[in-house]
Amino acid sequence: MNKPADFQVSRRERDEEESSNASGNASFMDVLEAGLRRRGFLKGGVGAAASMLLGGLAQAGCGGGGDDDDVAAPAAITTLSFTAVAKSTADTVTVPAGYTATPIYALGDPLTAATAAFANNGTDTDYDNRAGDHHDGMEYFGLNADSGARDASGSTRGLLAINHEALTDHFLHVAGSSARPRPAAESDKEIPAHGVSIVEVRKTGTTWAYVQASSHNRRVTPLTPVELSGVARGNALMKTLYSPAGTGARGTINNCGTGYTPWGTFLTGEENFEGYFTRGAADDAARGNDKSVVSLNRYKRRQGAASRHGWETSGAADKYARWNIGKLGASTDGSDDYRNELNTFGFIVEIDPYDKTAAIKKRTTLGRCAHESAAFGKVAAGKPLAVYMGDDSRGEYIYKYVSNANWDAADAGATNRIAVGDKYLDAGKLYVAKFNADGTGAWLLLNRAAIPAAYTAYAFADEADVAVNARLAADAVGATPMDRPEWCAVHPTTGEIYYTLTNNSNRRLQPATPSATTAPDAIQRLVDPANPRSYNDAPSATGSPGNVNGHIIRMREAGDEPSATTFTWDVYLFGSQSARDATSTMTDAEYVAKVNLSGLTGEQDFSSPDGLWFSRSTNLCWIQTDDGAYTDTTNCMMLLGVPGKVGDGAKTTLSYTVGASMLNIDTYVGARPTPGSLKRFLVGPKDCELTGCTETPDGTTVFANIQHPGETISAANAANPAAYLSHWPGNAGYGAGGANARPRSATLAITKNDGGRVGS
Ligand code: FEO
Ligand code: CA
Ligand code: CA
Repeated sequence: MNKPADFQVSRRERDEEESSNASGNASFMDVLEAGLRRRGFLKGGVGAAASMLLGGLAQAGCGGGGDDDDVAAPAAITTLSFTAVAKSTADTVTVPAGYTATPIYALGDPLTAATAAFANNGTDTDYDNRAGDHHDGMEYFGLNADSGARDASGSTRGLLAINHEALTDHFLHVAGSSARPRPAAESDKEIPAHGVSIVEVRKTGTTWAYVQASSHNRRVTPLTPVELSGVARGNALMKTLYSPAGTGARGTINNCGTGYTPWGTFLTGEENFEGYFTRGAADDAARGNDKSVVSLNRYKRRQGAASRHGWETSGAADKYARWNIGKLGASTDGSDDYRNELNTFGFIVEIDPYDKTAAIKKRTTLGRCAHESAAFGKVAAGKPLAVYMGDDSRGEYIYKYVSNANWDAADAGATNRIAVGDKYLDAGKLYVAKFNADGTGAWLLLNRAAIPAAYTAYAFADEADVAVNARLAADAVGATPMDRPEWCAVHPTTGEIYYTLTNNSNRRLQPATPSATTAPDAIQRLVDPANPRSYNDAPSATGSPGNVNGHIIRMREAGDEPSATTFTWDVYLFGSQSARDATSTMTDAEYVAKVNLSGLTGEQDFSSPDGLWFSRSTNLCWIQTDDGAYTDTTNCMMLLGVPGKVGDGAKTTLSYTVGASMLNIDTYVGARPTPGSLKRFLVGPKDCELTGCTETPDGTTVFANIQHPGETISAANAANPAAYLSHWPGNAGYGAGGANARPRSATLAITKNDGGRVGS
């Protein structure tokens, strides 16, 4: 069978498709010019942290956010006592003794009483009324057990808002996906398999299940009408044939990380949105080589780019045509084609999970990039709200939004929740992070006034242009390119902000100067203090150099203020194998000095941290991996951590031999974990990533997602499910198919058999 060129491309490859940050922002010389001395700066931070902890603050922001729900904060768990799960390559989910993990909501599960059970043989249709694919970020919204009304403390009945990031398209069709032009019937299954699920879940006795016929159930897809809100609403950049006024957009796609607002709504980040669109080979000239070409190149859609799934080839209907973003019409403003369609994606999108009638809004003031989570800083009455965000692509940036409005605790219980979102998320300041060599950092304001006069690569017309082209603005002000910022999460009591930097195969020891014709994916960055590793010790001989295993950086705001413009930072953990490979060219000592900087043991070692979330019940830090470097030894996993604080470790110098000289990079390594402060909790089935993490407010159930088990598939075995790498969860007795089932992304409910809090 003739397959599209991308047939065998795994989601992992797509996830980091290409780096397009050609800015000269760099990294190392800049950070050497640091100002504040680390030691003095940190003293204040640690002291403040101690007093905050002694003060026993009420729960606030976690992973995806914070709330002022009137629930007493339970005791934090400070030592992990469960037995760590061993690394595994088995096609199953493994949790510690005394725990149970059960799939409860998988690809294709019906969301209405009238929708047929999922056959899981490629014949299923109607994904508007079924679970989408590639379950990703997720938040739990409590319901009253009896009435079904909003109850933030409801721990036996609730709504899960679940992102469906992407697609393993072959599994949706009887014999794999067809070549281009794509049959409309196939595209009509694939498009609505993206987006978001709102699904009711209930606990009966000790067993969780989703409620097929719940009136709360809902799918938001790439075809659902949404509003553009905030600074870019109605801007010239947003005009499309769908919305000539530039006030609306159609749907959401590649939804990855999430946020939980203090007023009880769901935030979903649009990540690698650009990959779904195509642009003609001569489109630059068609646009008159205007500034839109600069923007499109920076957002990874160079002319001639092919779309991931080829939906634009399925027919002339608008729902297919919109995936071609070339300038095709004669208008001067783009209102007769989809040349501006890409500008309507790449946002944080707000959905009220409790109200199907409420508008869905793209919060454009929070900036446009490959968004992951939107994590609220600690919430305090009378102070602005801070929202932390990352842009997941090699060499991209870390962002913070600070609301103009100060938090009014009465808004936590508002019933018109999207109007509350208007108040806090449509007007505020957008910042980007710069990491200094001395362990401090600065939040650089992004607005037109901040763009240096010397910056000529792009002319920002107005403040909306800055938000829509946040990457270019961040280039202009000198932000620090990071090793693929994935999720961020805020410690519930210290308020420190944690970011996973999953890996970066283009972090280098020697400079390479990108040119206009350098393939975007080949742009390389020098090691710097905040992204200090580049080593060639991957487990396979073909392992790429760079930062292979990723790290988790954390930050503390100056004065613990959400509106602070400076911070301190260190690295909570460096991902690593516990021991070098036998084939490694390093000695054991070198491996510890350059790679396993956190001293991970076999019960703690992990690679490519991605999902990141703090329990509000236990304060425990959940770390989830999306790895390709250690998968010869273990499938992807979840770990539990008891983090300390910024500055609890030590300054460490990494020494690299570069040609005939030495390159020394100082970084700040957090305190090494102990057996009681970091343990592997779960290992997933074959060829999956772990993602999405949320809990019932009482902490007794944690929900997590298994994404794309068995996604690596060849054209030769597309029509042969028995040959697929994974058969989970069918092989665990969930749904149709049994031991030879097609694999399905799915949500797990994880409970402790004695009914206690997960992690206790
Ligand atoms: Fe969707 Fe960056 O992972
Ligand atoms: Ca991710
Ligand atoms: Ca990822």
